[in-house]
Amino acid sequence: MKPLSKITELFAESAIREMTRICDAAGGYNLAQGFPDFESPKAIKEAAIAAIQKDYNQYPVTYGEPELREAISKKALFYNNIHCDPETDITVTCGSTEAMIATLKAIINPGDEFILFEPYYENYGPDGILSGATPRYVTLEASNWTFSKEHLSKAFNEKTKAIIVNTPNNPTGKVFNREELEWIAELCIDQDVYAITDEIYEHILYDDAKHISLASIPGMENRTITINSISKTYSVTGWRVGWAIAPEAITARIRKIHDFLTVGAPTPFQHAAVTALSFPEDYYETLRKHYEGARQFVFALLQKAGFNCSLPQGAYYILADSQELMRRFCLNDDVAFSRRLIESIGVATVPGSSFYSDPKLGRNQVRFCYCKKWETLHAVEKAFAPLIASPEKLK
Ligand SMILES: Cc1ncc(COP(=O)(O)O)c(C=O)c1O
Repeated sequence: MKPLSKITELFAESAIREMTRICDAAGGYNLAQGFPDFESPKAIKEAAIAAIQKDYNQYPVTYGEPELREAISKKALFYNNIHCDPETDITVTCGSTEAMIATLKAIINPGDEFILFEPYYENYGPDGILSGATPRYVTLEASNWTFSKEHLSKAFNEKTKAIIVNTPNNPTGKVFNREELEWIAELCIDQDVYAITDEIYEHILYDDAKHISLASIPGMENRTITINSISKTYSVTGWRVGWAIAPEAITARIRKIHDFLTVGAPTPFQHAAVTALSFPEDYYETLRKHYEGARQFVFALLQKAGFNCSLPQGAYYILADSQELMRRFCLNDDVAFSRRLIESIGVATVPGSSFYSDPKLGRNQVRFCYCKKWETLHAVEKAFAPLIASPEKLK
């Protein structure tokens, strides 16, 4: 038989989704994959059912139903301070996952480089490979997930085509502040580089963290592609509705790629997304408060269990240093440690190495997600009890 595609040999299966399968088989608590286990908002479930009953069941307008593009454009102005024309600047996609690959395909040429902060959401690695771009990494300091302007500017060169910025960030919980975004903007403008932002956790913020869209920084409006989706804000990760906002010329390319990749995102869920985007302010506050409580709870639990971690500023993940526990378990890598956690206490995590270009950098880390209902979080606390009481017995 002739060999299969070489490109698919360049990246592995998703570690996150693999951990979910292992967890399901073991009947454990899935703190690996970032999806909520509580009910999605009733109003949007009803809106989706109503859309199906109204027979919104055929192909949508390929780049997005007009009502949804209109709603996205209003929300972008109100929440993100981004001016965009729903006719020419928005592409509705199958989640932000498709928006990212379609965007990279729309702007990358062979030989181009793109800059990635690491640790990074694992999809960006294969996205780069599939689009033919070479990644160049800027490592965030594990103590407080910061970076220096000098370090960042060294990553820019004449081959740099784009930089990906994910804020609030998965897996670190970092929220990029205005000063950092202005550094990025200055370098992008100076060196003629596009910015692609993944802002799907924009409403999940803690303490005094503020979400700032890079596209709203002066000079960035014509070179930024802003990616988002309803997956996380409205707890509907299975609906697969996302979008990319970009200037008209870039949008035209994204729409072409999107059309031939997927034709369109599911029509009834696009109509339900219009209802989601019209939710009142208190919906977001209730969501934020739940995650704030869950963050404190899981953070305290992890500290008690012997993990070393910092409080996230946004999103719903904690990337914890597990060196101390690994030592007690007589293990020296994150993959073995994650497997041991499922086997011994039934809690699934993601090995830290899957978030780095060099697996060694994440060898002592594991990621926990806490987008779960209280019942699950209390059950996780019970599962942790033997580990906290006598870790040596779990070897
Ligand atoms: C940073 C980030 N981007 C994108 C996604 C995928 O989002 P979507 O469901 O919109 O495709 C995830 C999912 O966990 C994520 O954490």
